[in-house]
Amino acid sequence: MQSPKITAESIRAMKGHARIAALTAYDYPFTRLLDEAGVPLILVGDSLGMVVLGHPDTTHVTMADMEHHTRAAARAHPRALLAADLPIHSYRTLEEAVANARRLMAVGAEAVKAEGGGAIAGQVRAIVAAGIPFLGHIGMLPQHVVEEGGYHVKGREAAEREALLADAYALVEAGAFAMVLELVAAPVARAITAAVPVPTIGIGSGPDCDGQILVINDLVGTFPWFTPRFVKPRLQAFAEMRTAIDDWRRSL
Ligand code: KIV
Repeated sequence: MQSPKITAESIRAMKGHARIAALTAYDYPFTRLLDEAGVPLILVGDSLGMVVLGHPDTTHVTMADMEHHTRAAARAHPRALLAADLPIHSYRTLEEAVANARRLMAVGAEAVKAEGGGAIAGQVRAIVAAGIPFLGHIGMLPQHVVEEGGYHVKGREAAEREALLADAYALVEAGAFAMVLELVAAPVARAITAAVPVPTIGIGSGPDCDGQILVINDLVGTFPWFTPRFVKPRLQAFAEMRTAIDDWRRSL
């Protein structure tokens, strides 16, 4: 018997019952691979700007990029929930947020993610009111990396800790079904996880979130030129591929 399709509601219901494993994928084969491996939440992240498109950060990613890759991932028809990122400058107003969320849903996304808490609560409410499941993202916001001057841990100061908790509550109140906590100090991530009724999915935020998300390339070594310090790769796929290619070339 085939297992039922995973929805935003199923992800929400995993809180307190099962740890949530989430990974990014940006195309058909990786989406199939992750789905066959039983990963329940797959994100077409705007991290594709770096690990697929070769940009220095996510601030160069466009809606056209996100549509192209979401369409490819969706062709795998995963059992997993397929979420896609709204890229920078695509959710500045309520109207723009809803229109662009609809564009991602039209090419196969089943939920959308955008970066921010209270500052984008209106956009989140509008997206949810349009019937589109919303995945939050607070903590370090990569779309702000240029203003922030790098990727820094959030929540080490009391004021930042309070702001993060307020952002988490704002997302819950606006209707997010889960939220990513990126580079949030581990004790703060633990406190947010205990405080909110929806799952927290950490990245570089310690072990106490309801789930963890990683960029697939970091986990399996298909972007070996940079690996975040909180990732322990399970495989060096490019190193093995390089050996295979060298062997073949020498065998000619
Ligand atoms: O863009 C992305 O891949 C992400 C995850 C790493 C959370 O936002």
